Amino acid sequence: MEHWTAYWQATTSLNSFAEGEAATGYQGDLAHFWQTQLADLPTDALIADLGTGNGALALLVAGQRQSQQKNWRILALDAAAIRPQQSLAQQPRYAKLAAVIRFYPQVAMEQLPFARQSMDLLISQFALEYSKLELSLAEAVRVLKPGGRLVAIMHSHETALANDSALALSVMAALNAGNGILDRIQQLLQLVTHLYAQQQLPEQNAGFLQANRQLMAQVKHYQQQISAAEADWFQYLFAPFAALLFQPKAENSQQFLLLRQQLGYYRQRLADQQAACITPLRRQLIDKLLQQQGWQTSWQELRVEGELFGLTLTSFAG
Ligand SMILES: C[S@@+](CC[C@H](N)C(=O)[O-])C[C@H]1O[C@@H](n2cnc3c(N)ncnc32)[C@H](O)[C@@H]1O
Repeated sequence: MEHWTAYWQATTSLNSFAEGEAATGYQGDLAHFWQTQLADLPTDALIADLGTGNGALALLVAGQRQSQQKNWRILALDAAAIRPQQSLAQQPRYAKLAAVIRFYPQVAMEQLPFARQSMDLLISQFALEYSKLELSLAEAVRVLKPGGRLVAIMHSHETALANDSALALSVMAALNAGNGILDRIQQLLQLVTHLYAQQQLPEQNAGFLQANRQLMAQVKHYQQQISAAEADWFQYLFAPFAALLFQPKAENSQQFLLLRQQLGYYRQRLADQQAACITPLRRQLIDKLLQQQGWQTSWQELRVEGELFGLTLTSFAG
């Protein structure tokens, strides 16, 4: 979970895959989907958001609670050490809404801290499918009231997001390969540190200049082999490392290690996402796990601005 903890503690984005305007919460088709799920809840309903991250979905529920003048209790948990109150404190328009949410950091959905048959609605966006489904679905069934519902939006292996993540992972693999581009940059930066210790300027050192040329040739060779979409990812991922070489400083070796750790976390988050995607086989597994508890399942494709965004699962005792 370190890779998710590092992400949530560093970002002010409310969700994990969107930047810009979308990072400020769920809107449009997505907000509409969730608002529909909340429409028929009793006024004192107990609702839990599983895998909440910085609370984008829980906040949407809190907004609906306020506009509909409901008395819902909203709980939001995540296995990572989230600190949403900290990032939300910097966003005053959310502070009041966040105050009605009880956040549970470092709580896994495989072991919910809720009583049997206590919850009216369990919701999850891009998180339930990351869990151990045998355990988390059994927990969902345990804590939901008779008549309660589980609703989740899950990654599909057919979305543009999944395809794009696969491309990013292949570029990351090339960067990280043994004797690959990052290893070479690391060696160069170590040389820079050594040269400065000897009072020498890297740009006047033949060894540095030659190693730099070899690196640039390797980069060019790689760029010639990849697609335009991979080239975009390469540019994005490589740029912060390349910047360390353009202005060589003794302390850049340390900065490199930090950047490489962040890249490693990013790779793990994308690998999690790929593994979480709902394929026909995983969908069958979910159906089987819920149906053997006597629960019904229904699936829909969810489109946002006309594009496939994910699959929705709705389940209740039937
Ligand atoms: C892709 S993020 C989605 C976060 C949020 N729901 C959103 O819409 O942005 C997946 C989240 O699931 C959390 N997670 C993964 N496995 C989990 C588990 N077993 N129990 C609870 N949370 C989990 C991760 O820590 C991460 O915050």
